[in-house]
Amino acid sequence: MLLHIPGVLSGDEVARFRAELHAADWVDGRETVGPQGARVKHNRQLPSDSPLAERLGRQILAALGQHPLYVAAALPLRSVPPLFNRYAGGEHYGDHIDGGIRALPAGGMLRTDLSSTLFLSEPHEYDGGELVVSDTYGVHEVKLPAGDLILYPASSVHRVEPVSGGERLCAFFWTQSMVRNDQQRTMLFELDTQVQALRRQLGDSPEVVSLTGHYHNLLRMWSEL
Ligand code: NI
Repeated sequence: MLLHIPGVLSGDEVARFRAELHAADWVDGRETVGPQGARVKHNRQLPSDSPLAERLGRQILAALGQHPLYVAAALPLRSVPPLFNRYAGGEHYGDHIDGGIRALPAGGMLRTDLSSTLFLSEPHEYDGGELVVSDTYGVHEVKLPAGDLILYPASSVHRVEPVSGGERLCAFFWTQSMVRNDQQRTMLFELDTQVQALRRQLGDSPEVVSLTGHYHNLLRMWSEL
């Protein structure tokens, strides 16, 4: 499932993030990838141990924890602290798949079920720079308003097109979901969405209560914690 999550950060929050990020020191983005990624990755990142990245990253994860659409779609168990990247002057990131397992800075490992990209530049501020995600439904080009996030399966082949003008600033991170299987997670999200709609129409009728129970029983069957 590829899902647009709008309004993760407000306009004021985006402006504050950008001011702080523009004053930071950036490094070559190849710091955080394996050998295949290093051949195709051409961008800059904040160092993963940067206190600024840690602080802004915590704010992003806190905002997402309060975002009902994100929580319903991702069913997040834990996330890697967000990283920040910038592309300009033709920088790009060729076709790749994100690594399946990542080490957490605080110790332990995380299985990357879902990838997220949070846009911090407005689409009109740069040329190119589309995130292109290939899945079983085809090829999707993504370029969202600042403050919006795209959630997609980390198993997808994807790339970032060259930024030929202006600058593209984003945060990105990976999440281990309570439900590993993308199809099961997608079914739960669609069931949840429809049950919420029925509840708005009918209140807590016996049918709505029963369907809510089915959602939770499927979640119980399919989740791993
Ligand atoms: Ni990637």
